[in-house]
Amino acid sequence: MAIIKKRSWAEPYKMKMVELLKMTTKPYRTKAIKEAGFNTFLLHSADVYIDLLTDSGTNSMSDRQWSAFMTGDEAYAGSKSYYLLEEAIQKYYGYKYVVPTHQGRAAENILSQILIKKGDFVPGNMYFTTTRLHQELAGGTFVDIIIDEAHDPFNEHPFKGNVDLAKLDKLVKKHGAKKIPYVCIATNVNMAGGQPISMSNLKELRAYTKKHGIRIIHDMTRVAENAYFIQQREKGYNKKSIREIVREICSYTDGATMSAKKDALVNIGGFLAINDWDVFEEARNMVVVYEGLHTYGGLAGRDMEAIAVGIVESLDDNHQHARVGQVEYLGHKMMEYGIPIVKPIGGHGIFVDAKSFLPHLTQDQFPAQTLAAEIYIDSGVRTMERGIVSAGRKANGENHYPKLELVRFTLPRRVYTQAHMDVIAESAATVYDKRKFIKGLKMVYEPKYLRFFQARFERLK
Ligand code: F0G
Repeated sequence: MAIIKKRSWAEPYKMKMVELLKMTTKPYRTKAIKEAGFNTFLLHSADVYIDLLTDSGTNSMSDRQWSAFMTGDEAYAGSKSYYLLEEAIQKYYGYKYVVPTHQGRAAENILSQILIKKGDFVPGNMYFTTTRLHQELAGGTFVDIIIDEAHDPFNEHPFKGNVDLAKLDKLVKKHGAKKIPYVCIATNVNMAGGQPISMSNLKELRAYTKKHGIRIIHDMTRVAENAYFIQQREKGYNKKSIREIVREICSYTDGATMSAKKDALVNIGGFLAINDWDVFEEARNMVVVYEGLHTYGGLAGRDMEAIAVGIVESLDDNHQHARVGQVEYLGHKMMEYGIPIVKPIGGHGIFVDAKSFLPHLTQDQFPAQTLAAEIYIDSGVRTMERGIVSAGRKANGENHYPKLELVRFTLPRRVYTQAHMDVIAESAATVYDKRKFIKGLKMVYEPKYLRFFQARFERLK
């Protein structure tokens, strides 16, 4: 019998430069998190050992992307870097018109202002913080139409990003298609734990929306990771390349907002892409007001150039295998230690279920916020709350009480090693061992918008 039953994958790159990290002590970190109001967003990153706050803008660029930086064209108007970016988006995603923006939420703002009227409803497969806020600021109401399984952290449905068409149909019947400017579809749904939508679900949605004359706008921030899961899990796709799958996903939608800081492997950038000339015309007008001329939209030429290269690299099958493979490695380690994580393991990070980790805390005692602070104190690993604090308040001022109360261990792309993954899992296990003794938090400062970024807390006595 063969000794080796299954061959390992490894990263399709090697390191050429490293960034040195500061190692800190537990008393140092205990003081640092207190000063940061028990909010990991308010820590100084110099005090962080392994930074899993987000996969947004924290990726390592490749030698090719850094080279592209040098060939960026910094012309105010008509930069060749814009045309390179436009060409990459048309070629790999298939959208017709492109407006660059400094990051994803700027594209969301422009799109929401153009398409949403006061009193409209915007259905989506779970909310994302900035996306929903822009919809609301434009006068719309977000309606969650994701399948129920997505709200259950332990349900192992392979496509928890799927839309429940019955929920959409109910909304259409109640308010009429005219009140729905578009359906907002995120690929690899962030707040559900990095969970994919299936191609067949997307096709059904396309057929339904076509019948009712409703657009589909694609939040394509993590589309390549979604494509990887389709390749691995959906019938008929295991021989297709990520590149082909991404192109097919985009073909069922009418336009997209993109935060290039994730999939596209850059530190800053985004865009709005749309097939509709009229919407493009308006977006081109608006981008000048908020971002900059329509051929740079708040970005330097070098940024646009690096995105164009990053798009190609993100569609490489080996890259995605290593990317998601690393997330799965960390997830399996945590499961071995008995830590409750969202299943199936998602694409961009491990989401720990804080409600089952700290069952003695009520949601008003902020279990996920508490757990993120404890992990930082234990090891200097910085994670993020994705629960009641992130969910914010409703228009009437009441708190949203999301079913999911999670701590996100988000992995930047091409940044950390397998040894880092071991340290992270061991830290989570150490905190898990003493979970019964952990006290909750109370909020002592709450900003009006996107409170999770700047809210402050104190430990309950
Ligand atoms: N859509 C999704 C699904 C996102 O995850 C993000 C950002 C955005 C839109 C907004 O893009 O940050 O470029 O303005 N998510 C980051 C995160 C912040 O940590 O998950 P942005």
